[in-house]
Amino acid sequence: MKNNRQLTRAIQSNLNTQFVGKQLYYYDSVTSTMTVAREKAVKGAPEGTVIIADEQTSGRGRMGRTWLSPHGNLALSLILKPCLETLTRLVMITSLAVLQTIKLVANIDATIKWPNDVLIKDKKVCGILIESEIKGELVNYAIIGIGSNIYLDASNFSEISALATSIRQETVQAVSKTELTAILLSELETLYLAVKDGAPIHEEWKAHMDTLGKWVEVKSGKTTERGIAEDIMTNGSLVLRRADGTTAEILAGDVTVLKR
Ligand code: BTN
Repeated sequence: MKNNRQLTRAIQSNLNTQFVGKQLYYYDSVTSTMTVAREKAVKGAPEGTVIIADEQTSGRGRMGRTWLSPHGNLALSLILKPCLETLTRLVMITSLAVLQTIKLVANIDATIKWPNDVLIKDKKVCGILIESEIKGELVNYAIIGIGSNIYLDASNFSEISALATSIRQETVQAVSKTELTAILLSELETLYLAVKDGAPIHEEWKAHMDTLGKWVEVKSGKTTERGIAEDIMTNGSLVLRRADGTTAEILAGDVTVLKR
């Protein structure tokens, strides 16, 4: 078994990046890599700093939910310092980087469930959480949190067994966590730099979106809307066509696909 320093070296030696992962902290167990990353960002950690933990005791998900994070999963947070416009693209950048990584390590075509989930055969394999601190027009820092089921056997966890899968469950190929992590960080940096340079990303994101064309229920704060997921705007909003023909544009929310 490799220790954390060896794991850090194994990841960094496979990295193909200019700045992402040059500072990398690997822990056995933390409350949440988001919390550790935030502490480091506040203290001035450079852009590209990565926090990884084998286990999180208080992993957090979107909408205040907890995130199950036992050993064998990837729990990673990455500190970035984007401009406001790029900040709004981080979900797209991250989900596409996860898709490309899964394709490269396992030869699987994963899909995106709007706005933040990566699915394999309709089951969640990865969740993404973006947190940021903004002052006026300035983004002090953004933290991308990625929780990916690599080796987890979802059937051992009744809370998620019906909804989740893992890369290992879906492929016969051996999957190395360090290799996957290095590829993911490299893909993330490539896409991030491209978007910062003005590359469009929305059409590609939309092309991998599993949600479009389906009848869905979207919960967003205290509002619940139902309709056909019709389109995705360039800012990432979901356009929903209600049964009465009117449309709603939703910036963030939780989607449930309805059977009709
Ligand atoms: C979601 O689908 O609700 C998002 C889940 C994000 C989980 C990751 S695991 C690494 C990082 N640390 C956390 O506490 N959360 C994110």
